[in-house]
Amino acid sequence: MDHFNYRGGELLAEDVPLARIAQQVGTPFYCYSTATLRRHYRVLSEALGKTNHRIYYAVKANSNIAVIRTLGEMGAGADVVSEGELRRAQAAGIPSDRIVFEGPGKTRAELAYALSADIHQFNIESDAELLALDDVARGWGVVAPIAVRVNPNVEAHPDDPHELDGIATGRKRDKFGILWPAARATYRAAAGMSGVKVVGVAMHIGSQITDTKPFSQAFAKLREIVETLRADGHDIQRVDLGGGLGVPYTNETPPSPADYARAVLRETGKLDCELAFQPGRMLVANAGVLVTRVTYEKDAEGIRIVMVDAAMNDLVRPAMYKAVHTIVPVRADSGKPRPADVVGPICESSDRFAKDWPLPPLSPGDLLAMRTAGAYGASMASNYNTRLLVPEVLVNGSEFAVIRPRQTYESLLAGEALPPWLAKTPGVG
Ligand code: LLP
Repeated sequence: MDHFNYRGGELLAEDVPLARIAQQVGTPFYCYSTATLRRHYRVLSEALGKTNHRIYYAVKANSNIAVIRTLGEMGAGADVVSEGELRRAQAAGIPSDRIVFEGPGKTRAELAYALSADIHQFNIESDAELLALDDVARGWGVVAPIAVRVNPNVEAHPDDPHELDGIATGRKRDKFGILWPAARATYRAAAGMSGVKVVGVAMHIGSQITDTKPFSQAFAKLREIVETLRADGHDIQRVDLGGGLGVPYTNETPPSPADYARAVLRETGKLDCELAFQPGRMLVANAGVLVTRVTYEKDAEGIRIVMVDAAMNDLVRPAMYKAVHTIVPVRADSGKPRPADVVGPICESSDRFAKDWPLPPLSPGDLLAMRTAGAYGASMASNYNTRLLVPEVLVNGSEFAVIRPRQTYESLLAGEALPPWLAKTPGVG
Protein backbone atom coordinates (compact mmCIF):
# COMPACT_ATOMS: atom_id res chain seq x y z
CA MET A 1 0.00 0.00 0.00
CA ASP A 2 1.23 3.49 -0.77
CA HIS A 3 0.07 7.08 -0.56
CA PHE A 4 -0.09 7.93 -4.28
CA ASN A 5 -3.81 8.15 -5.05
CA TYR A 6 -6.16 9.96 -7.43
CA ARG A 7 -8.35 12.70 -6.01
CA GLY A 8 -10.51 14.97 -8.16
CA GLY A 9 -9.15 13.31 -11.30
CA GLU A 10 -5.47 13.85 -10.58
CA LEU A 11 -2.68 11.87 -8.97
CA LEU A 12 -1.46 13.10 -5.60
CA ALA A 13 1.49 12.23 -3.43
CA GLU A 14 -0.24 12.25 -0.03
CA ASP A 15 -2.04 15.63 -0.19
CA VAL A 16 0.11 17.25 -2.86
CA PRO A 17 -0.83 17.11 -6.57
CA LEU A 18 2.11 15.81 -8.58
CA ALA A 19 1.25 18.39 -11.26
CA ARG A 20 1.90 21.17 -8.73
CA ILE A 21 5.37 19.80 -7.98
CA ALA A 22 6.04 19.46 -11.71
CA GLN A 23 5.16 23.10 -12.19
CA GLN A 24 7.60 24.11 -9.49
CA VAL A 25 10.60 21.85 -10.13
CA GLY A 26 10.14 20.87 -13.79
CA THR A 27 10.29 17.33 -15.13
CA PRO A 28 11.48 14.66 -14.81
CA PHE A 29 11.63 14.34 -11.02
CA TYR A 30 11.47 11.68 -8.35
CA CYS A 31 8.83 12.10 -5.69
CA TYR A 32 8.83 10.18 -2.40
CA SER A 33 6.10 9.87 0.21
CA THR A 34 7.05 10.11 3.88
CA ALA A 35 3.83 8.38 5.01
CA THR A 36 4.60 5.40 2.76
CA LEU A 37 8.19 5.14 3.99
CA ARG A 38 6.96 5.22 7.58
CA ARG A 39 4.17 2.78 6.92
CA HIS A 40 6.47 0.20 5.35
CA TYR A 41 8.97 0.47 8.18
CA ARG A 42 6.18 0.15 10.75
CA VAL A 43 4.57 -2.88 9.08
CA LEU A 44 7.87 -4.78 9.01
CA SER A 45 8.82 -3.76 12.50
CA GLU A 46 5.40 -4.75 13.87
CA ALA A 47 5.54 -8.10 12.06
CA LEU A 48 8.82 -8.81 13.85
CA GLY A 49 7.14 -7.82 17.10
CA LYS A 50 9.01 -8.07 20.35
CA THR A 51 11.83 -10.25 19.02
CA ASN A 52 15.23 -8.79 19.74
CA HIS A 53 15.91 -7.20 16.37
CA ARG A 54 17.08 -4.17 14.43
CA ILE A 55 16.26 -3.13 10.86
CA TYR A 56 19.32 -1.83 9.01
CA TYR A 57 17.99 -0.01 5.97
CA ALA A 58 19.98 -1.00 2.83
CA VAL A 59 21.04 2.48 1.77
CA LYS A 60 21.84 1.40 -1.80
CA ALA A 61 18.11 1.20 -2.59
CA ASN A 62 17.66 4.95 -2.14
CA SER A 63 20.58 6.80 -0.72
CA ASN A 64 19.10 10.28 -0.38
CA ILE A 65 20.03 11.61 3.06
CA ALA A 66 16.46 12.74 3.78
CA VAL A 67 15.13 9.24 3.05
CA ILE A 68 17.78 7.66 5.29
CA ARG A 69 16.93 10.11 8.04
CA THR A 70 13.17 9.52 7.74
CA LEU A 71 13.78 5.81 8.36
CA GLY A 72 16.45 6.55 10.96
CA GLU A 73 13.90 8.53 12.96
CA MET A 74 11.72 5.42 13.02
CA GLY A 75 14.60 3.48 14.58
CA ALA A 76 16.31 2.07 11.50
CA GLY A 77 20.03 1.59 11.30
CA ALA A 78 21.92 1.56 7.99
CA ASP A 79 23.37 -1.26 5.92
CA VAL A 80 26.13 0.32 3.81
CA VAL A 81 28.36 -1.08 1.07
CA SER A 82 30.88 1.69 0.48
CA GLU A 83 32.57 4.55 2.28
CA GLY A 84 30.25 6.87 0.36
CA GLU A 85 27.16 5.18 1.75
CA LEU A 86 28.71 5.18 5.23
CA ARG A 87 29.25 8.92 4.95
CA ARG A 88 25.65 9.35 3.81
CA ALA A 89 24.39 7.38 6.83
CA GLN A 90 26.51 9.59 9.07
CA ALA A 91 25.23 12.74 7.34
CA ALA A 92 21.67 11.50 7.96
CA GLY A 93 22.48 11.21 11.68
CA ILE A 94 22.46 7.40 11.97
CA PRO A 95 24.46 6.58 15.12
CA SER A 96 27.60 4.53 14.42
CA ASP A 97 26.37 1.65 16.58
CA ARG A 98 23.53 1.25 14.08
CA ILE A 99 25.72 0.88 10.98
CA VAL A 100 26.68 -2.42 9.36
CA PHE A 101 29.29 -2.50 6.59
CA GLU A 102 28.71 -5.12 3.90
CA GLY A 103 30.02 -5.84 0.40
CA PRO A 104 32.45 -8.25 -1.23
CA GLY A 105 35.24 -5.81 -2.09
CA LYS A 106 35.72 -3.34 0.75
CA THR A 107 39.14 -1.75 0.32
CA ARG A 108 41.64 -1.28 3.14
CA ALA A 109 40.97 2.45 3.00
CA GLU A 110 37.24 1.86 3.39
CA LEU A 111 37.81 -0.58 6.24
CA ALA A 112 40.01 2.01 7.95
CA TYR A 113 37.35 4.70 7.58
CA ALA A 114 34.69 2.39 9.03
CA LEU A 115 36.98 1.46 11.94
CA SER A 116 37.55 5.14 12.68
CA ALA A 117 33.75 5.56 12.70
CA ASP A 118 33.46 2.73 15.26
CA ILE A 119 30.58 1.00 13.46
CA HIS A 120 28.42 -1.82 14.82
CA GLN A 121 29.56 -4.65 12.55
CA PHE A 122 31.62 -5.67 9.54
CA ASN A 123 30.20 -8.47 7.39
CA ILE A 124 33.18 -10.33 5.99
CA GLU A 125 32.94 -11.91 2.55
CA SER A 126 36.31 -13.63 2.01
CA ASP A 127 39.32 -14.95 3.88
CA ALA A 128 41.49 -12.33 2.22
CA GLU A 129 39.20 -9.56 3.44
CA LEU A 130 39.33 -11.00 6.95
CA LEU A 131 43.15 -10.85 6.90
CA ALA A 132 43.02 -7.26 5.65
CA LEU A 133 40.55 -6.15 8.34
CA ASP A 134 42.54 -7.85 11.09
CA ASP A 135 45.69 -6.14 9.85
CA VAL A 136 44.13 -2.68 9.55
CA ALA A 137 42.40 -3.00 12.96
CA ARG A 138 45.62 -4.06 14.70
CA GLY A 139 47.38 -1.13 13.09
CA TRP A 140 44.83 1.16 14.67
CA GLY A 141 44.88 -0.71 18.00
CA VAL A 142 41.17 -1.56 17.80
CA VAL A 143 39.08 -4.71 17.53
CA ALA A 144 36.50 -5.00 14.72
CA PRO A 145 33.22 -6.82 15.48
CA ILE A 146 32.60 -9.24 12.61
CA ALA A 147 30.02 -11.57 11.13
CA VAL A 148 31.01 -13.82 8.26
CA ARG A 149 28.62 -13.71 5.32
CA VAL A 150 27.91 -17.33 4.57
CA ASN A 151 26.80 -18.29 1.06
CA PRO A 152 24.13 -20.98 1.56
CA ASN A 153 23.92 -22.01 -2.11
CA VAL A 154 20.18 -21.34 -2.36
CA GLU A 155 18.27 -20.27 -5.50
CA ALA A 156 16.43 -17.05 -4.63
CA HIS A 157 14.13 -17.09 -7.66
CA PRO A 158 13.32 -20.75 -8.33
CA ASP A 159 10.52 -19.84 -10.76
CA ASP A 160 12.51 -17.25 -12.67
CA PRO A 161 16.23 -17.99 -12.28
CA HIS A 162 17.25 -16.50 -15.63
CA GLU A 163 15.27 -13.30 -15.66
CA LEU A 164 16.45 -12.34 -12.18
CA ASP A 165 19.95 -13.81 -12.47
CA GLY A 166 21.65 -10.46 -11.87
CA ILE A 167 20.05 -9.94 -8.47
CA ALA A 168 20.53 -13.41 -6.96
CA THR A 169 23.45 -13.48 -4.55
CA GLY A 170 23.32 -16.72 -2.54
CA ARG A 171 24.25 -19.39 -5.08
CA LYS A 172 27.58 -21.21 -5.30
CA ARG A 173 28.45 -19.40 -8.56
CA ASP A 174 27.77 -15.92 -7.13
CA LYS A 175 30.67 -13.80 -5.90
CA PHE A 176 29.22 -13.23 -2.44
CA GLY A 177 30.14 -14.58 0.95
CA ILE A 178 31.98 -17.77 1.82
CA LEU A 179 30.46 -21.14 1.08
CA TRP A 180 29.49 -23.39 3.94
CA PRO A 181 31.28 -25.50 5.19
CA ALA A 182 34.44 -23.60 4.10
CA ALA A 183 33.28 -20.71 6.30
CA ARG A 184 33.84 -22.92 9.34
CA ALA A 185 37.58 -22.61 8.81
CA THR A 186 37.20 -18.83 8.39
CA TYR A 187 35.62 -18.65 11.83
CA ARG A 188 38.44 -20.78 13.25
CA ALA A 189 40.98 -18.39 11.73
CA ALA A 190 39.10 -15.32 12.99
CA ALA A 191 39.04 -16.72 16.53
CA GLY A 192 42.84 -16.63 16.54
CA MET A 193 43.12 -12.99 15.38
CA SER A 194 43.49 -10.09 17.77
CA GLY A 195 42.13 -7.41 15.40
CA VAL A 196 38.68 -8.95 15.02
CA LYS A 197 36.04 -10.38 17.29
CA VAL A 198 33.46 -12.86 16.02
CA VAL A 199 29.96 -11.74 16.97
CA GLY A 200 27.66 -13.30 14.38
CA VAL A 201 26.69 -14.85 11.09
CA ALA A 202 25.29 -13.02 8.05
CA MET A 203 23.42 -14.10 4.93
CA HIS A 204 21.70 -12.42 1.97
CA ILE A 205 20.44 -14.54 -0.89
CA GLY A 206 19.12 -12.00 -3.38
CA SER A 207 16.63 -9.28 -4.16
CA GLN A 208 13.00 -9.05 -5.35
CA ILE A 209 12.21 -12.45 -3.84
CA THR A 210 8.51 -13.19 -4.24
CA ASP A 211 8.29 -16.60 -2.60
CA THR A 212 8.77 -17.60 1.07
CA LYS A 213 10.45 -20.90 0.20
CA PRO A 214 13.96 -19.60 -0.58
CA PHE A 215 13.90 -17.55 2.62
CA SER A 216 12.84 -20.58 4.68
CA GLN A 217 15.56 -22.71 3.07
CA ALA A 218 18.22 -20.11 3.74
CA PHE A 219 17.09 -19.42 7.31
CA ALA A 220 17.01 -23.16 8.11
CA LYS A 221 20.62 -23.42 6.90
CA LEU A 222 21.50 -20.40 8.96
CA ARG A 223 20.11 -22.05 12.10
CA GLU A 224 22.20 -25.18 11.50
CA ILE A 225 25.25 -23.02 10.90
CA VAL A 226 24.77 -21.10 14.17
CA GLU A 227 24.38 -24.37 16.07
CA THR A 228 27.54 -25.83 14.49
CA LEU A 229 29.57 -22.68 15.12
CA ARG A 230 28.45 -22.58 18.73
CA ALA A 231 29.44 -26.23 19.11
CA ASP A 232 32.84 -25.20 17.66
CA GLY A 233 33.13 -22.74 20.54
CA HIS A 234 32.25 -19.43 18.82
CA ASP A 235 30.16 -16.88 20.68
CA ILE A 236 27.44 -16.22 18.09
CA GLN A 237 25.19 -13.46 19.43
CA ARG A 238 23.93 -11.89 16.22
CA VAL A 239 22.27 -13.26 13.12
CA ASP A 240 21.97 -11.02 10.06
CA LEU A 241 19.26 -12.29 7.72
CA GLY A 242 19.84 -9.83 4.89
CA GLY A 243 17.12 -8.20 2.81
CA GLY A 244 15.46 -9.27 -0.40
CA LEU A 245 11.73 -9.20 0.22
CA GLY A 246 10.06 -8.43 -3.11
CA VAL A 247 7.41 -5.85 -3.92
CA PRO A 248 4.55 -5.75 -6.44
CA TYR A 249 5.57 -3.84 -9.59
CA THR A 250 2.61 -5.07 -11.61
CA ASN A 251 1.00 -8.38 -10.62
CA GLU A 252 3.66 -10.00 -8.42
CA THR A 253 2.42 -11.35 -5.10
CA PRO A 254 5.37 -11.29 -2.69
CA PRO A 255 5.04 -12.69 0.81
CA SER A 256 3.60 -10.19 3.26
CA PRO A 257 5.93 -8.91 5.98
CA ALA A 258 3.91 -11.11 8.37
CA ASP A 259 4.58 -14.24 6.23
CA TYR A 260 8.23 -13.26 6.05
CA ALA A 261 8.42 -12.73 9.81
CA ARG A 262 6.81 -16.14 10.39
CA ALA A 263 9.51 -17.81 8.25
CA VAL A 264 12.19 -15.94 10.17
CA LEU A 265 10.86 -16.80 13.58
CA ARG A 266 10.14 -20.43 12.74
CA GLU A 267 13.80 -21.00 11.88
CA THR A 268 15.67 -18.58 14.10
CA GLY A 269 13.26 -17.78 16.94
CA LYS A 270 14.89 -20.14 19.41
CA LEU A 271 18.50 -19.17 18.74
CA ASP A 272 18.49 -16.45 21.38
CA CYS A 273 20.28 -14.07 19.03
CA GLU A 274 19.90 -10.43 18.13
CA LEU A 275 18.30 -10.55 14.67
CA ALA A 276 19.37 -8.04 12.01
CA PHE A 277 17.53 -7.30 8.76
CA GLN A 278 18.74 -5.34 5.75
CA PRO A 279 15.67 -4.49 3.69
CA GLY A 280 15.97 -1.96 0.92
CA ARG A 281 13.34 -2.36 -1.76
CA MET A 282 10.40 -3.27 0.51
CA LEU A 283 10.86 -0.06 2.49
CA VAL A 284 11.28 2.41 -0.34
CA ALA A 285 10.13 1.04 -3.72
CA ASN A 286 6.45 1.87 -3.49
CA ALA A 287 7.23 5.09 -1.67
CA GLY A 288 8.51 6.69 -4.87
CA VAL A 289 7.41 7.62 -8.38
CA LEU A 290 9.29 9.09 -11.31
CA VAL A 291 7.24 11.85 -12.93
CA THR A 292 7.91 12.57 -16.57
CA ARG A 293 6.33 14.64 -19.34
CA VAL A 294 5.26 13.47 -22.77
CA THR A 295 7.37 15.24 -25.38
CA TYR A 296 6.08 13.72 -28.64
CA GLU A 297 4.03 10.87 -29.93
CA LYS A 298 4.40 9.09 -33.25
CA ASP A 299 3.01 6.12 -35.06
CA ALA A 300 5.26 3.57 -36.74
CA GLU A 301 2.99 1.49 -38.96
CA GLY A 302 0.54 0.90 -36.14
CA ILE A 303 3.04 0.93 -33.28
CA ARG A 304 2.25 3.81 -30.94
CA ILE A 305 5.44 5.40 -29.62
CA VAL A 306 5.15 7.80 -26.72
CA MET A 307 8.34 9.77 -26.16
CA VAL A 308 8.89 11.14 -22.62
CA ASP A 309 11.51 13.43 -21.11
CA ALA A 310 12.83 10.79 -18.66
CA ALA A 311 15.32 8.25 -19.92
CA MET A 312 17.22 5.12 -18.96
CA ASN A 313 19.85 7.23 -17.23
CA ASP A 314 17.14 8.35 -14.76
CA LEU A 315 15.59 4.91 -14.22
CA VAL A 316 17.73 2.11 -15.61
CA ARG A 317 15.79 -0.89 -14.28
CA PRO A 318 13.71 -1.57 -17.43
CA ALA A 319 16.80 -1.44 -19.68
CA MET A 320 19.06 -3.32 -17.28
CA TYR A 321 16.79 -6.01 -15.82
CA LYS A 322 13.79 -5.94 -18.20
CA ALA A 323 11.90 -4.68 -15.17
CA VAL A 324 8.34 -3.50 -15.67
CA HIS A 325 7.17 -0.39 -13.84
CA THR A 326 3.48 0.49 -13.92
CA ILE A 327 2.98 3.74 -15.83
CA VAL A 328 -0.08 5.89 -15.17
CA PRO A 329 -1.27 9.29 -16.37
CA VAL A 330 -1.09 11.98 -13.69
CA ARG A 331 -4.46 13.34 -14.86
CA ALA A 332 -6.95 10.49 -14.80
CA ASP A 333 -8.39 10.29 -18.26
CA SER A 334 -11.57 8.67 -19.42
CA GLY A 335 -10.17 8.18 -22.92
CA LYS A 336 -9.90 4.61 -24.14
CA PRO A 337 -6.43 3.19 -23.43
CA ARG A 338 -4.37 1.95 -26.36
CA PRO A 339 -1.06 0.08 -26.15
CA ALA A 340 2.02 2.26 -26.37
CA ASP A 341 5.77 1.87 -26.27
CA VAL A 342 6.98 4.42 -23.74
CA VAL A 343 10.49 5.52 -24.67
CA GLY A 344 13.10 8.04 -23.63
CA PRO A 345 15.28 10.30 -25.79
CA ILE A 346 18.58 8.45 -25.35
CA CYS A 347 20.19 7.20 -28.50
CA GLU A 348 19.81 3.48 -28.06
CA SER A 349 16.84 1.20 -28.37
CA SER A 350 17.23 -0.12 -24.83
CA ASP A 351 16.00 3.29 -23.66
CA ARG A 352 12.47 2.00 -23.40
CA PHE A 353 10.35 2.01 -20.24
CA ALA A 354 7.51 -0.18 -21.44
CA LYS A 355 6.26 -2.08 -24.44
CA ASP A 356 2.57 -2.23 -25.34
CA TRP A 357 1.60 -0.46 -22.17
CA PRO A 358 -2.06 0.69 -22.11
CA LEU A 359 -2.28 4.48 -21.99
CA PRO A 360 -5.17 6.86 -22.74
CA PRO A 361 -4.87 9.44 -25.53
CA LEU A 362 -2.03 11.82 -24.60
CA SER A 363 -0.81 15.20 -25.79
CA PRO A 364 2.68 16.69 -25.58
CA GLY A 365 3.07 18.20 -22.12
CA ASP A 366 0.94 15.60 -20.33
CA LEU A 367 2.44 14.07 -17.22
CA LEU A 368 3.00 10.37 -16.57
CA ALA A 369 4.09 8.69 -13.36
CA MET A 370 6.25 5.57 -13.26
CA ARG A 371 5.38 3.82 -10.05
CA THR A 372 7.45 1.75 -7.63
CA ALA A 373 10.48 3.82 -8.54
CA GLY A 374 11.61 4.67 -5.00
CA ALA A 375 14.11 1.78 -4.92
CA TYR A 376 17.09 1.53 -7.27
CA GLY A 377 15.82 4.51 -9.26
CA ALA A 378 17.65 7.70 -8.31
CA SER A 379 20.40 5.69 -6.62
CA MET A 380 21.31 4.04 -9.95
CA ALA A 381 20.94 7.15 -12.10
CA SER A 382 23.80 8.37 -14.25
CA ASN A 383 24.76 11.28 -16.49
CA TYR A 384 24.69 9.18 -19.67
CA ASN A 385 24.12 11.34 -22.77
CA THR A 386 25.23 14.21 -20.51
CA ARG A 387 21.79 14.46 -19.03
CA LEU A 388 21.42 16.15 -15.66
CA LEU A 389 20.55 14.16 -12.54
CA VAL A 390 16.91 14.94 -11.82
CA PRO A 391 15.49 16.49 -8.64
CA GLU A 392 14.24 14.42 -5.74
CA VAL A 393 11.24 15.70 -3.80
CA LEU A 394 9.94 14.48 -0.45
CA VAL A 395 6.27 14.95 0.41
CA ASN A 396 4.99 14.96 3.96
CA GLY A 397 1.22 15.43 4.19
CA SER A 398 0.42 18.69 2.46
CA GLU A 399 4.01 19.96 2.36
CA PHE A 400 6.88 19.06 0.11
CA ALA A 401 10.55 19.90 -0.18
CA VAL A 402 13.23 19.45 -2.79
CA ILE A 403 15.72 17.08 -1.15
CA ARG A 404 18.10 17.17 -4.09
CA PRO A 405 17.84 19.93 -6.69
CA ARG A 406 18.28 19.31 -10.37
CA GLN A 407 21.97 19.18 -11.19
CA THR A 408 23.22 22.15 -13.20
CA TYR A 409 25.23 22.05 -16.41
CA GLU A 410 27.85 24.20 -14.70
CA SER A 411 28.43 21.67 -11.89
CA LEU A 412 28.31 18.79 -14.35
CA LEU A 413 31.04 20.28 -16.56
CA ALA A 414 33.07 21.79 -13.74
CA GLY A 415 34.49 18.41 -12.76
CA GLU A 416 36.41 17.97 -15.99
CA ALA A 417 39.68 19.52 -17.10
CA LEU A 418 41.86 19.65 -20.17
CA PRO A 419 45.35 18.14 -19.80
CA PRO A 420 48.23 20.64 -20.16
CA TRP A 421 49.07 19.62 -23.73
CA LEU A 422 45.52 20.43 -24.86
CA ALA A 423 44.94 23.47 -22.65
CA LYS A 424 47.90 25.28 -24.28
CA THR A 425 46.53 24.99 -27.81
CA PRO A 426 44.45 27.93 -29.02
CA GLY A 427 41.43 25.74 -29.70
CA VAL A 428 40.08 23.44 -32.29
CA GLY A 429 38.23 25.91 -34.50
N1 LLP B 1 21.78 -6.57 1.81
C1 LLP B 1 22.67 -6.88 0.87
C2 LLP B 1 23.93 -7.49 1.27
C3 LLP B 1 22.41 -6.61 -0.48
O1 LLP B 1 23.31 -6.94 -1.41
C4 LLP B 1 21.17 -6.02 -0.84
C5 LLP B 1 20.85 -5.74 -2.24
C6 LLP B 1 20.26 -5.71 0.19
C7 LLP B 1 20.60 -6.01 1.50
C8 LLP B 1 18.93 -5.08 -0.08
O2 LLP B 1 18.13 -5.92 -0.84
P1 LLP B 1 16.59 -5.56 -1.09
O3 LLP B 1 15.86 -5.68 0.23
O4 LLP B 1 16.54 -4.19 -1.61
O5 LLP B 1 16.15 -6.57 -2.07
N2 LLP B 1 19.61 -2.91 -8.51
C9 LLP B 1 18.76 -4.08 -8.43
C10 LLP B 1 18.75 -4.67 -7.03
C11 LLP B 1 20.12 -5.03 -6.52
C12 LLP B 1 20.12 -5.52 -5.10
C13 LLP B 1 21.51 -5.66 -4.58
N3 LLP B 1 21.60 -6.05 -3.21
C14 LLP B 1 17.36 -3.74 -8.91
O6 LLP B 1 17.12 -2.60 -9.30
O7 LLP B 1 16.48 -4.61 -8.93
